[in-house]
Amino acid sequence: MNSKDLISIHDLESGEIFEVLTAAGELKKETDKDKLFLRGRVIGMIFQKPSTRTRVSFEVGIHQLGGYTIFLNTADMQLKRGETIKDTAKALSRYLNGIVIRAYAHDDVIELASCSTIPVINGLTDLLHPCQVICDVFTIMEKKSIGCTRREAPDLSGLKVVYIGDGNNIANSWMNLASKLGLELVVCSPAGYEPDRDILNRCLEASKETSAGISVSHTPLEAVRNADVIYTDVWKSMGNVDGRKINKKDFQEFQVNSELLSKAKKDVIVMHCLPAHRGEEITDEVIDGPHSVVFDQAENRLHVQKAIMKLLFK
Ligand code: CP
Ligand code: NVA
Repeated sequence: MNSKDLISIHDLESGEIFEVLTAAGELKKETDKDKLFLRGRVIGMIFQKPSTRTRVSFEVGIHQLGGYTIFLNTADMQLKRGETIKDTAKALSRYLNGIVIRAYAHDDVIELASCSTIPVINGLTDLLHPCQVICDVFTIMEKKSIGCTRREAPDLSGLKVVYIGDGNNIANSWMNLASKLGLELVVCSPAGYEPDRDILNRCLEASKETSAGISVSHTPLEAVRNADVIYTDVWKSMGNVDGRKINKKDFQEFQVNSELLSKAKKDVIVMHCLPAHRGEEITDEVIDGPHSVVFDQAENRLHVQKAIMKLLFK
């Protein structure tokens, strides 16, 4: 991997993504002989927002690879008392070998990375959640038996992914990923809750090279026709994206339920990054049903993020 950091999938070459996916497959199958490549390394975990999966999967992954973690809740850091991100980055670069950060403002993560001499991984901002969707495409490839090697790109053409719900950090990251990997992606959101316009436009432009098909829809029942993957996320994220108010009534037609599923392909898989608000964006019947892969999806955070760290922190 040539990149120093993982802040946005947009910054990665497609080949770097294949490299991560291939390494993740080897780590999951335990065919990778170099198991302790973080031996003696210390990774800082800076979190401004709550987390279950991201924190635990990164921390467990780092420990499994022989490294150590220091969990840094920003409420306990001098950042809270006004120390600048630049000074924090410069000081932490003298102690740590890498940083995983979860923040509100995406620009704060960009600044931290640009002022650090060590690699920085974005563990979610209001704008993007890149690790999540790289892990998710790994799960899709597993479930749909699509292979990938360092030299050979996965053949994802013909695969239709439909994201239903708020045009949030997950939707934005999916657009970035689809534009790099040549996927067909429909982002289906209520009017007024569409994904980030600048990211959409940039991805539409980038798609011309990769033959990705990215579109925005407002009609779930039509959008899921022929879908191989239906993906959803909470209607109200932890961040306050653009300061906008979320009215749950606007999302009533956007629930992933059995009726919606019946309009997709018979072997459709249902994904959710979790945490879920059961009974809102997804019903119990669907999330616990035979099409759901959400806990395999959660497990793969561990394997794929280990691969990301192997390529960035080594
Ligand atoms: N999907 C995800 O990032 O979950 P957490 O908020 O629990 O980390
Ligand atoms: N969109 C959600 C994702 C949580 C993993 C949020 O930002 O809260």
